[in-house]
Amino acid sequence: MKKLLFVCLGNICRSPAAEGIMQSKISQAGLEDLIYCDSAGTSAYHAGERADARMREHAAKRGFKLLSRSRPFEKTDFEEFDLILCMDQSNLENVKAMDAKKIYSEKIKLITDYLSFIEAEVVPDPYYGGDQGFEFVMDILEESCTNLLKEVRKSL
Ligand code: 4NP
Repeated sequence: MKKLLFVCLGNICRSPAAEGIMQSKISQAGLEDLIYCDSAGTSAYHAGERADARMREHAAKRGFKLLSRSRPFEKTDFEEFDLILCMDQSNLENVKAMDAKKIYSEKIKLITDYLSFIEAEVVPDPYYGGDQGFEFVMDILEESCTNLLKEVRKSL
């Protein structure tokens, strides 16, 4: 079983969208028994909350249901998951800082490492912006999750 964890700041916008998109792709491919995914935030500000209503709406327009509840990233996640996919540089640095001895460096990546066509260094935080920001998040995550699934399948 390969386990993937998507990480952003609040775990109510970007990483729940990544989890919902990836879960849908895993199910479509019939790989539920082989690939598991979850999401978490580097902060606990929104712990227990459902995904932001705007993010859920933009995901629903493309056929994705976001069902997760926000939870903070925890040190135990380093052992639990095979890949930790961060949305931006700040998330990446915060996660790496929790791995002070650099034991898990190989597992910690930016989700944008998996982009092939869209040119973006990070998944920009859409929280304080408008519809365009949420659409761009969806564009980036759909493309990167498609490529991520291909990569993970190769390693099964
Ligand atoms: P996320 O977006 O990290 O993609 O879940 C945010 C959600 C909440 C806040 C910031 C970003 N906030 O400051 O409350």
